[in-house]
Amino acid sequence: MQTDLRGRDMITTQEWTKEEIETVLDVAFDLKRERATGQSHPLLRDKALAMLFFFTSTRTRASFEAGMAQLGGHAAFIESHTTQIAHGDTAREIGDILGRYFDGISIRQCDWKAGNQYIRDVAAASRVPVLNMQCEVYHPFQVLADLMTIIEKKGDPRGKSIAVSWAYAASYQKPSSVPQSLILLLTRFGMNVRLVHPPEYRLRAEILEQAQENARRHGGTLETSDDMDAGFQDVDIVYPKSWGCWLTTEDPDESAAIARKYEDWICDERRMGLAKEDAIYMHCLPADRNIEVTDGVIDGPQSVVYDEAENRLHVQKAVMGLTMR
Ligand code: CP
Repeated sequence: MQTDLRGRDMITTQEWTKEEIETVLDVAFDLKRERATGQSHPLLRDKALAMLFFFTSTRTRASFEAGMAQLGGHAAFIESHTTQIAHGDTAREIGDILGRYFDGISIRQCDWKAGNQYIRDVAAASRVPVLNMQCEVYHPFQVLADLMTIIEKKGDPRGKSIAVSWAYAASYQKPSSVPQSLILLLTRFGMNVRLVHPPEYRLRAEILEQAQENARRHGGTLETSDDMDAGFQDVDIVYPKSWGCWLTTEDPDESAAIARKYEDWICDERRMGLAKEDAIYMHCLPADRNIEVTDGVIDGPQSVVYDEAENRLHVQKAVMGLTMR
């Protein structure tokens, strides 16, 4: 077990070894068990986390805040409308100054071609760990929770099949950080990953290359397809969600017009029937109900979305406890 993680940033799981990620999961399961049995675990007493939000959130904010309280510390909610973080304060100033006030800095900054660089610039100036609460490229804590959930529901992930599929949503052009992070992480755990999307919704080439290499090293596979039905066929897990066609166009109107061509890319009962009988339905939430997924599926017996959301709390506490102590 690799335990020397104090001071480490978590910007993408790809920058942590598999052994380090296994440590995170091990600690997360311990913390979950302890919380279930009423044991307190004040690993970060008197420590404080700055949570910088340039973009809205429900689960991420709530779970980091609750997690820090359960670890005996405090989380400060710093959002862009009531502070100067989006204008005036530079990344270097934020990293250096907040690094003197706090024991960790977590950031959600999803601006296209800017969010990840901002987080890396803060990290370069910070003396404390920087945790990526989602950028336009990665969402590491979501996929750590997803992997924990897969292990809980399906056991050893090696050899299990998952369809990471695009789905239609009308709300807005969402980041592609979840599918990109999923294909990177799950291929390292020996899973057979089917990436399914219409041609305009391709992911970054360098991420696909890294995921292919992960699969090669760890005995998994990565296949791509533009057929949602074929992607769902006989898989153990379906993870259909919307993301934007960022590499095709950055124009919101053009992107909305492209999306409308694929309104039938919904996860409904018929499509769930294509997967294995005991397949599970996953989604990071929020979902566009009855557009991206039917109520019958997301509220149905195969859905694990509530346990998946809960696991955000446990993996985040594990990473904070390991890096911020
Ligand atoms: N899944 C997730 O990150 O949820 P929020 O956007 O509500 O934080």
